[in-house]
Amino acid sequence: MTKVLLATEKPFSPAAVKQIQAVVEEAGFEFALLEKYTAPEQFYQAVSGADALIVRSDLVTPQVLEAAKALKIVVRAGAGFDNIDLPTATAKGVVVMNTPGQNANAVAELALGMMVYLARGCFNGKSGSELRGKTLGLHAFGNVGRRVAEIAKGFGMHVYAYDPFLTKDAIENEGVTALASVEQLYDTCQYVSLHIPANEQTRGSINYALLNRMPQGATLVNTARKEVVNEADLLKIFAERPDFKYLSDVTPDCAAEIAEKFPGRFYFTPKKMGAQTEEANVNAGIAAANQIRDFFQKGDTRFQVNK
Ligand code: 3PG
Repeated sequence: MTKVLLATEKPFSPAAVKQIQAVVEEAGFEFALLEKYTAPEQFYQAVSGADALIVRSDLVTPQVLEAAKALKIVVRAGAGFDNIDLPTATAKGVVVMNTPGQNANAVAELALGMMVYLARGCFNGKSGSELRGKTLGLHAFGNVGRRVAEIAKGFGMHVYAYDPFLTKDAIENEGVTALASVEQLYDTCQYVSLHIPANEQTRGSINYALLNRMPQGATLVNTARKEVVNEADLLKIFAERPDFKYLSDVTPDCAAEIAEKFPGRFYFTPKKMGAQTEEANVNAGIAAANQIRDFFQKGDTRFQVNK
């Protein structure tokens, strides 16, 4: 019988797990669950008999793929698939998919929530500032960026976007001002919210030269990946620009240094929380289970990222 393993170090909500299991079993497949594992060996063992795998940010390394002798498909229940070793999966003939858009609203709400929190001095009782009338730049305009734009417009922010993969019309049809270069985005916006994936082109790309273009009252918001920000440059801009602030759901490696040297100018979630809502868990988890069912039953590879 086709076996589907849900392996999540950071578990989905119990309601989401129940619904994923129901989709898998209704399709006539066997469901297996591995949660909160503490050592990769537990993952290797659990995956050894699986035909299909659902993960979150769990590292799908060459060792995991080597242990998974029967594996045909991995679905990352979420957007970013930088945790999956694509070359090894492809070499082994394993199909890799993601579930784009399914957790976008949760991430977008968190981005705006963090912005309000820091603008109000982390609720320290002193006068803070408002988001209304401020400029917000979306660095990439995919599912999360679009949702951030919708919410930010509700706050009365002036919203801009830069996305090298979209036409000006595709951005402006959503009621957002498209900027022609990444430099223009950072020149224009007091808040810049990152919605780029972590890959060879983007790692370390948010650097001093870009950040230093931001106007007074600059706040960088990162609900994407910590690796896209150059941390040496981040520390430099913090030191040189007393107005610069950083919000991140993907805690930087230099978090302790920032906390010690620049109090009041940052907020980092204690654990990555962007997609951690019941709704996002259900949406992404069910999408993953449906995609696995359709892959085995109909040969559907629509969401494959390693074609
Ligand atoms: C994503 O890429 O979908 C988000 O970063 C969510 O990741 P998570 O499922 O590990 O919380």
